[in-house]
Amino acid sequence: MNKSRSPSSNPSAGSAAAAFDAAVARAAEFAPPDFTSCDYDLETRAVRAGFERTNYGEHSEPMFLTSSFVHTSAANAAAKFSNEIDGYIYSRYRNPTVRLFQDRLAALEGAQACLATASGMSAIQSVILSLTRSGDHIVSSMGVFGTTVQLFGLFERYGVRTSYVPLTDLAAWEAAIEPTTRFLFLETPANPSTEVADLESLAALAQRRGVLLVVDNCFCTPVLQRPLELGADIVVHSATKYLDGQGRVLGGAVLGTTEYVKEKLEPVLRFGGPTLSAFNAWVLAKGLETLPLRMRQQSANALEVARWLERQPQVHRVLYPGLQSHPQFEIASRQQSAAGPVLCFEVKGASREEARAHAWRVVDNCRLLSITANLGDVKTTITHPASTTHGRMAPPVREAAGITEGLLRIAVGLESPADVCVDLGRGLAAG
Ligand SMILES: Cc1ncc(COP(=O)(O)O)c(C=O)c1O
Repeated sequence: MNKSRSPSSNPSAGSAAAAFDAAVARAAEFAPPDFTSCDYDLETRAVRAGFERTNYGEHSEPMFLTSSFVHTSAANAAAKFSNEIDGYIYSRYRNPTVRLFQDRLAALEGAQACLATASGMSAIQSVILSLTRSGDHIVSSMGVFGTTVQLFGLFERYGVRTSYVPLTDLAAWEAAIEPTTRFLFLETPANPSTEVADLESLAALAQRRGVLLVVDNCFCTPVLQRPLELGADIVVHSATKYLDGQGRVLGGAVLGTTEYVKEKLEPVLRFGGPTLSAFNAWVLAKGLETLPLRMRQQSANALEVARWLERQPQVHRVLYPGLQSHPQFEIASRQQSAAGPVLCFEVKGASREEARAHAWRVVDNCRLLSITANLGDVKTTITHPASTTHGRMAPPVREAAGITEGLLRIAVGLESPADVCVDLGRGLAAG
């Protein structure tokens, strides 16, 4: 079979090709502005930033599901591999859909650069690998996600130690810094205590002592809080949570200066391979489009639920940075534009056992709230941290982090807050 067919063998092909070229030229004239620029408001950046339209003129962002990219010649391949020219080689290194998500998130956080990872934990692991070597030391807040504590523990095997301090005790942070300390690590608000750190003070301390400040911005997202603007050096995300917003995919991200990302972080991702898949990047990039709306509405719903919980006689206390009763209400009001969708409350119980039994009854009576350890969804979720997310922590460490047996965490979604309260009320009454 003769497979060589010239374009002119089809008389209409020539004019179609010319029309296509003309359309491409016209599209090029309308090259979009740089939507990553802060000249555009956050809502605009969330929808538009990072999208580089292809010659097809598509309106929705395309998904590049390809492991590798072809080169125009051997010389072209060699030039790309040796970084003489810029270009895509292999999706473990770079992928256009992953780049879209990275650029869009960087535009929201106000970061110079971003690299996406396969999960929030791989983002934190990549930061540790990028900043430490055997003999180094980390100072972390006690009130961090349980798996983060496990991960720091894993690194003890490789000679990287971690000391833990109370999130809000500035003097304790200062005292814990050693000559080999490389970075301070925290979440604010913390998971699940909702404690809030004073980021400006901690950033000043880190700078004065020559260490970096790394902030897990999972609970607030850049819509409610931008740690880099407050002096932090690196931001990490579990994109699995609010950046996706609908509980569909796992993902993570690390954001910082171009120098840090290019020189220290990129080799970890390129050689270690905890890269985000293009499919997940596409889902996450679309998630960012509705992030401002979701974060604000879910925060408003959470405030309503928190106020209702405070009035319930079976509730010992409610931990929500949007309530005046929260110990860091002032700091949260200053550094966050809203308190966020996550709240905790402690049910009453005369002993640890009774408190746990009461908390579990609240969980077991839920018909609307999903019993799942995930958060960040538009569906409200409930979990008992002491027996799930933080169950592997040694009980005294867990209690010191405020994770008691009566504590329940709710991540409030987009359902009617009144329906959420009815659901919780059933279990509270059963106590
Ligand atoms: C604050 C925080 N950081 C990091 C993670 C880990 O994220 P991932 O599950 O995407 O690895 C979680 C997960 O719940 C989290 O809540």
